[in-house]
Amino acid sequence: MQGLSCERKTGEFLLSIGTYFCYNISVGSIKTSDKRDGLQMDGNRSPVGVLDSGVGGISVLRELVRVLPGEDFIYYGDSANAPYGTKTAEEISFLTNKSARFLLDRGAKALVVACNTATSVAIKELRQTYESLPIIGIEPALKPAVLAKEHSRILVMATPMTLMQEKFGSLMHSYESEAEIIKVPCPGLVELIEEGILEGEPIERYLRQLFLPCHTEQVDAVVLGCTHYPLIRPSIAKVLPAKVRIYDGGNGTARETRRRLEAAGLLSVKTFGGTVEFYNSRETKEMLSLCRKLMGI
Ligand code: DGL
Repeated sequence: MQGLSCERKTGEFLLSIGTYFCYNISVGSIKTSDKRDGLQMDGNRSPVGVLDSGVGGISVLRELVRVLPGEDFIYYGDSANAPYGTKTAEEISFLTNKSARFLLDRGAKALVVACNTATSVAIKELRQTYESLPIIGIEPALKPAVLAKEHSRILVMATPMTLMQEKFGSLMHSYESEAEIIKVPCPGLVELIEEGILEGEPIERYLRQLFLPCHTEQVDAVVLGCTHYPLIRPSIAKVLPAKVRIYDGGNGTARETRRRLEAAGLLSVKTFGGTVEFYNSRETKEMLSLCRKLMGI
């Protein structure tokens, strides 16, 4: 298992570079002073765990470090098993639980499920398993898109699994009298992003093909309902008419995380100088450099 460690000071990233195996990484002390649900954590000094099927959750992590600059974060990307969005619900639940356990074993005081697919399928079970732990999920940012303009036409890009879940069904149901909402499943897109293909012809070709039946000249907004998609936001904007507004749930999730930590008395006492540590189940140098590139460090 590899990790990449960095420290932030007053908005800058001080990076301790290299490929580490997790036993070499200084994660801070994991104490047993607060043992709940079999969790090992050290109150507000512990890190916040962030998980995704791969690198997508880094789009949420970027918002988290902006909103919570004093917190330490551990990020787990399960790239060896990506994509989740075309797997069965049982497989997604199993993998999400495994990633959560990985982070909790490293002392996480809260979990951010920075994956729409894992949130839709597995968050309920996670919350039942770890009752006392703040667990924050993400959902497509449909509400701000609907509120921005009356009777708008909105495309929701997401994985096939997210769009077929009951959770999305009820979200869509709450807004369908106010806007025309069109589901746009994007099989294959996560795979391109996981390979580090973020711009250029392969991505633009995929997107042009995807939007072909959507009459984009009549579209008001596009909601990015998968955390991988904000990583290719410039490419998405490039193939859409300039008037189309693009929404994602990263900032809202970061603000919700701050609220939940505050309510639980778990906010770090530090106001800057937090650290970020990356782990990924795909143990390659390319993956580490992709994580750094996406994080902008
Ligand atoms: N980032 C995940 C999401 O938000 C991608 C899911 C996948 O691996 O297919 O849905």
